[in-house]
Amino acid sequence: MKLWGGRFRESESELMEEFNASLSFDKKLYKEDIEGSIAHVKMLNKCKIINEEECEKILRGLKSIDDDIENGKLKIEGDYEDIHSFVEVNLIDRIGEVGKKLHTARSRNDQVAVDMKMYVKKGSYIIIDCIDKLMSTIKNKAENNHFIMPGYTHMQRAQVVTFTHHMMAYYSMFSRDKKRLLNAISNLNESPLGCCALAGTTYDTDRELTAKELGFDKPVDNFLDGVSDRDYLIEVLSSFSICMMHLSRLSEELIIWSTKEFSFVQMDDKFSTGSSIMPQKKNPDAAELIRGKTGRVYGDLMAMLTIMKGIPLAYNKDMQEDKEQFFDSFDTLKMCLLVMDGMIDTMKVKEAAMKEAVKGGFLNATDVADYLVNKGIAFRDAHKISGEIVIYCENNDKTIEELNIDEFKKFCDLFDDDVYEFINYHNVIKKGNKKIM
Ligand code: ARG
Repeated sequence: MKLWGGRFRESESELMEEFNASLSFDKKLYKEDIEGSIAHVKMLNKCKIINEEECEKILRGLKSIDDDIENGKLKIEGDYEDIHSFVEVNLIDRIGEVGKKLHTARSRNDQVAVDMKMYVKKGSYIIIDCIDKLMSTIKNKAENNHFIMPGYTHMQRAQVVTFTHHMMAYYSMFSRDKKRLLNAISNLNESPLGCCALAGTTYDTDRELTAKELGFDKPVDNFLDGVSDRDYLIEVLSSFSICMMHLSRLSEELIIWSTKEFSFVQMDDKFSTGSSIMPQKKNPDAAELIRGKTGRVYGDLMAMLTIMKGIPLAYNKDMQEDKEQFFDSFDTLKMCLLVMDGMIDTMKVKEAAMKEAVKGGFLNATDVADYLVNKGIAFRDAHKISGEIVIYCENNDKTIEELNIDEFKKFCDLFDDDVYEFINYHNVIKKGNKKIM
């Protein structure tokens, strides 16, 4: 069922109808579509384009469609081109001729633009809530497990840090993701409703009114841009992609940490799976899936950038492709944030294994050098002496702090008993991470 056809002599091929239809996916926009129509109708009445009685009838019709969809009486399916046609044809079925006035001073181009902006805004706030939840779970886990662990560069044990500090690095990343999304929301917050097809309308409409009614800061400045701007989707998808990248990095750490080789954490059974052949295995599938699904979200962003790159002004049907990319990314990111939250919340942090790894890693070698610098040796020379001590320890199967003072003095006579306190890991942490969270 179509909203057009007046100038057509022949009917569309079935194949074309199927190819063109978007109802199967844009049905997700029904709430925003009805909300947008309600604001539009109220404006038409205020501007005396339709009268009070017509306005009331249309509003009642739209609300009844919304109610019936909500309570399951009305299924969004059938032979409709898209959600806009579905709502409008249903309205006309319910209230008769007056329903045909709904689309006065509006086009599906500004209609879909406003629907999508509202949907993306709502979705972004849902993602922000999930990020908030994950951030507080990370903080909790970090603060309740104030243990020393090796910090890594090049995946080699480098210097001592705490599990708290390590986890709070992710807290910082996710707080930036949240800021990025809030910024994208504030950039998109201009209403395209009233731009009509591309050139505005000859009716004396009030775009300020619909913008305000729908929660936008203002109407867009330019009609052509208003109906064909999808920058906001690219911004939101790129924020989603960056957030997925952070989730993926954290997943990678959890996968490594939960190996027998590391054993820094133990994933809860709730978020692990088994092997159908190897009975001993407990696999970190949740983390692996998050890492894998990151590729999907990047793909959606790349698709959107590619869809938009060759489109002249103004609306072109290519833009219909924006929806599935966003829906897919939104569902994926939301699920990944929730699963990561559950994984972090339920995992056990293994203090002893992390401490053991610190001891075996010569992680205070830099502090030995710093000690000598404090005694007046140039850092480059101190670095060399400390390196020689590490070789000696390796050959004699000792940690640096296990050397006695005579052994230290063999490398430099400036070493004294205070070296033990200086290179003690807990003291190193206290000195190094002055503002540890
Ligand atoms: N389904 C379309 C989309 O998502 C709605 C806009 C249709 N506009 C048009 N001129 N055919 O983009």
